[in-house]
Amino acid sequence: MSLKTGSRACRVMSAARCAKFPVLTRALASASRRWLAAISSGATSSASMTGSFAGPFWSPPDSLVDQMMYGSHIINSSNYRGGVMTHKVAVVTGSSRGIGRAIASRLAADGMHVIINYKNDFDAAKDVASAIEKSGERATVVQADVTDPAQLRTLFQAAEQHYGGLDVFVHNAYGAAYSTIAEADDDDYDRTFSANARATFMALREAATRLRDNGRIVFISSSLTRTSNPPALYSASKAAGEQLVRTFAREVAARRITVNSVLAGLTDTDGLRATLGLPTEEIARRIPMGRIGRPEDVADVVGFLASDDARWVTGQSIAVDGGLT
Ligand SMILES: NC(=O)c1ccc[n+]([C@@H]2O[C@H](COP(=O)([O-])OP(=O)(O)OC[C@H]3O[C@@H](n4cnc5c(N)ncnc54)[C@H](OP(=O)(O)O)[C@@H]3O)[C@@H](O)[C@H]2O)c1
Repeated sequence: MSLKTGSRACRVMSAARCAKFPVLTRALASASRRWLAAISSGATSSASMTGSFAGPFWSPPDSLVDQMMYGSHIINSSNYRGGVMTHKVAVVTGSSRGIGRAIASRLAADGMHVIINYKNDFDAAKDVASAIEKSGERATVVQADVTDPAQLRTLFQAAEQHYGGLDVFVHNAYGAAYSTIAEADDDDYDRTFSANARATFMALREAATRLRDNGRIVFISSSLTRTSNPPALYSASKAAGEQLVRTFAREVAARRITVNSVLAGLTDTDGLRATLGLPTEEIARRIPMGRIGRPEDVADVVGFLASDDARWVTGQSIAVDGGLT
């Protein structure tokens, strides 16, 4: 399935939720149909869908509406709005693999509809969405380079167009130059700060007007920001992102939106292996708790911060690194 937004084509794969246990009445199903129809009328102007999934997404057949209305979720205040059962909606940047993938999977397991974002590897992103679909939740894949403001915007638009709004934004995509300060050139600096500090600024600015009240924002930083370890440009640009998060938390606090940074430690991902080029046992020896971090270690903390339980936690930088810093 493909989504056209303006002149830029982004590839989209939508995964319909599976039915499990009936939990809602027919009256509620009827109200939900009206709700979906209302969203449908506003969503088709800026996006058109084609592909293997039959029919436009926003005019789901009754069978699909029924599937959406009969889920395994417990109805609570967080997913029951205006008399209609809804699900929180999350966008996770850079979620085609590694830590981002684990975060997307965790949020989906918590009952959220998730936008999976990638830059290059559509197949990997599609795998994430398929796995979420198999587990009975819903996911949509959107290609967007988060360093480009127009492409970044499509992520937020996708959440609104596909699911009617946005509650949780996790900024996980990143870029890095690994030179020392003495060896780095101006381009290394610009690329790294563009990928981390500038993209975080643009994402927060966009989130300021897109997130619904009571929303959650999590920025994935690095516990390197607490150390003098290299690479300097990477950790300096992540530290800038953390400072933006601290201040932004104040800006949106009155709307009960929380904004926090999670500082990942050494975590077993493609990105880490490519960077360090060391066997995982060697990396594990550096970590007080005696093993390398798993993407799920980070995702579980993000899951907490995205939940109602974390409503009073904002403007914080939380290291998830097995005691490394
Ligand atoms: N792994 C660690 O040890 C570690 C330690 C500290 C902090 N972190 C932080 O944790 C986060 C995830 O790291 P990771 O190790 O899981 O990374 P990873 O395995 O390298 O995966 C990176 C993900 O980001 C996507 N991506 C890269 N550039 C993008 C862009 N410009 N726009 C949109 N998506 C983009 C990639 O998509 P494509 O594959 O399609 O390009 C991929 O899904 C990062 O913020 C990183 O700084 C990681």
